[in-house]
Amino acid sequence: MIPTKVKIVEVGPRDGLQNEKEFVSTETKIELVNRLARAGVRNVEATSFVSPKWVPQMADGAAVMSGIERRAGTIYSVLTPNMRGFEGALEAKADEIVIFGAASEAFSQKNINCSIAESIARFEPVAKAAKDAGLRVRGSISCALGCPYQGEVSIDSVVDVVERMKALGCDEIDIADTIGVGTPKRTREVMAAASKVFPRERLSGHFHDTYGQAVGNIYAALLEGIEIYHASVAGLGGCPYAKGATGNVATEDVVYLLNGLGIETGVDLDQLVDIGDFISRAIGKPSASRVGRALLAKRQSGAAACV
Ligand code: HMG
Ligand code: MG
Repeated sequence: MIPTKVKIVEVGPRDGLQNEKEFVSTETKIELVNRLARAGVRNVEATSFVSPKWVPQMADGAAVMSGIERRAGTIYSVLTPNMRGFEGALEAKADEIVIFGAASEAFSQKNINCSIAESIARFEPVAKAAKDAGLRVRGSISCALGCPYQGEVSIDSVVDVVERMKALGCDEIDIADTIGVGTPKRTREVMAAASKVFPRERLSGHFHDTYGQAVGNIYAALLEGIEIYHASVAGLGGCPYAKGATGNVATEDVVYLLNGLGIETGVDLDQLVDIGDFISRAIGKPSASRVGRALLAKRQSGAAACV
């Protein structure tokens, strides 16, 4: 059954910006988070507490978290690869921490410098400390639909990591297509297999759009009853440890799709288009959102016709 309501997790401020070579000012990051929450996004992934040597763009995580306004009911999430990151998240009063592993050994090594088993052992105290502190815990599984280093990733290895993340007490688990190679058939199969071992209403789809399949993959996941989707305004992003991977599916494109299906998101598409324009100008790159560009062009041609 296709859900009637979907939660959008906006990952632009983190996944979207983490790969930008030029440092994006802390002020811009704060404005981005604030505007997204005001547009009705109930869960914003605001920043990371990772090693600044590994991801320099996220070095101002604490400043971003202390500068943003907190909207009641909005969940502000941050990435925490280890206890050091968790301590930063706790200090910053994050609502949710994200531990991030992979279904591919090769990617695990490149991204967090350890094996899958070592990562789970490292996440154990992080997840426990977060639970003890009353924080939500989300587990993200990279390369669930393919890996830039090893290629094919089996469904069994995805399910295995879902089970390990579940054992850590994750409230939500992300099935992530890091390099955007997945197609709808495979997406359905992976979601169906994952939902046999973890409640489907707490599974999410995190699709990068490298091969232009992300909207199709979301539709396929909707058919499997998945209710949570990650997206990045203006389609910002790319992973520093997955060369050639482009950004997440654009939030504007996802909301347009869901509006067309009559699925409630609570997110205002017009405001999203403005936010996509704002951040694209701020980083000096054109928006990767088809919907964002189309709606902006429509507005401009409408304005011209009125002159
Ligand atoms: P390491 O080098 O093995 O660990 O990195 P280390 O403990 O030796 O630490 C190295 C240095 O970093 C030390 O500093 C630590 O103090 C410091 P030094 O002594 O050399 O001066 N350090 C920290 N600093 C701040 N905050 C911390 C922290 N931890 C250590 N939390 C580590 C291991 C996990 C730290 C590193 O590999 C790392 O930070 N990786 C993060 C990679 C990352 O952020 N990748 C992108 C996010 S994941 C993603 O995008 C995928 C996702 O979107 C889903 C999908 O699409 O697939 C979620
Ligand atoms: Mg990602």
